[in-house]
Amino acid sequence: MDVKASSATSEAYRPTRADKFTFGLWTVGNPGRDPFGDTTRARLDPNDSVRKLAELGAYGISMHDDDLVPYNASASERDAIVSRFKKTLSDTGMVVAMATTNLFGHPVFKDGAFTSNDRAVRRYAIAKTMKAIDLGAELGAKIYVFWGGREGVEAMAAKRPGDALDRFRETMDFLSEYVIERGYGMKFAMEPKPNEPRGDTFLPTVGHALAFISTLAHPEMVGVNPETAHETMSGLSFYHAVGQAIWQGKLFHIDLNGQKIGRYDQDLRFGSEGVKDAFFLVKLLEDSGYQGPRHFDAHAYRMEDAEGVWDFAAGCMRTYLILKEKAKRFDTDPEIQAALKAASVFELAEPSVGKYSSAAAQALKADPGDPDKLALRGYGNERLDQLVMELLLGIR
Ligand code: GCO
Ligand code: MN
Ligand code: MN
Repeated sequence: MDVKASSATSEAYRPTRADKFTFGLWTVGNPGRDPFGDTTRARLDPNDSVRKLAELGAYGISMHDDDLVPYNASASERDAIVSRFKKTLSDTGMVVAMATTNLFGHPVFKDGAFTSNDRAVRRYAIAKTMKAIDLGAELGAKIYVFWGGREGVEAMAAKRPGDALDRFRETMDFLSEYVIERGYGMKFAMEPKPNEPRGDTFLPTVGHALAFISTLAHPEMVGVNPETAHETMSGLSFYHAVGQAIWQGKLFHIDLNGQKIGRYDQDLRFGSEGVKDAFFLVKLLEDSGYQGPRHFDAHAYRMEDAEGVWDFAAGCMRTYLILKEKAKRFDTDPEIQAALKAASVFELAEPSVGKYSSAAAQALKADPGDPDKLALRGYGNERLDQLVMELLLGIR
């Protein structure tokens, strides 16, 4: 193969707007600060980020309120910033697909935002969120994300979990009504994370979030925004979390990145860790008919300069498209299809007993099958998984 054609800058796997790739302004704008060291690269102007991402083939961006409008901006400064940003969006054809609130950066949120023990802080957080929802609506965002960054605890005695969940629910119900009254047509997506920056976070996993959503006043408005890194930090399968969210009709948005199990939130370039997991995730998203943005919540390594940031962004999209092509090959590879059949994969889609009737129950009890005979078969999973590995390793 021509070395040039396979290099990271080739035309193959070049993203287009139809691929619906989006990036948080805070992702490409990440200046490389970590808990141990200061920034390693200059902050980016959001307008420059939008232009550069458009050039790379992205569809749009997502943003926190503070990513665009600095905390202390006056009303007229805010309006000037927003109108300049709108012009950049229309010049480039980029969209704001998702908006969210920064409820973690300012020290006022050190004990939490919607679940701070201080009622005045909770009220401030809700007010800030309403203003950020207005900003998101003004920029056309149809999805609004809630990541409870500081909604948690270190000292267990400090918060009763039920009280915190009551306040979280009260807030979600209040903000749902706000969006309905304003006619914004927005949906909410809750983003779980097990810990970091708090010792323990409320709603730590996709499963917790799905159960919580079913208790809300407007559950139809609220879904999840699962993140690769966050479920992986919990030691759980991101693929299965997303699979259940889709099955429950609750995958409203997604945060794609890379993560090693058992680590802090690494937010690595999509697909750079856990290639097999990334492959099945892409296949799941593509097969499911998910219409939302393919959103990257990741950042470049801390040692990268400005150019490295765009290598990072291009790499996220390119890997997604490569895996998407592999997913197509998976579906058309005759040996893989035969192995799926041998493993009875399609049989799992057939009902086991169908609708209940007394007669069906009695008939089944009378003739349940012979377990010793049923136990004899193999399921061919070794062969199937090896074929997947060979597909991913590039020899199929
Ligand atoms: C994190 C989170 C955030 C959120 C973002 C949007 O671990 O820092 O993933 O990046 O996704 O604040 O809600
Ligand atoms: Mn995230
Ligand atoms: Mn994260």
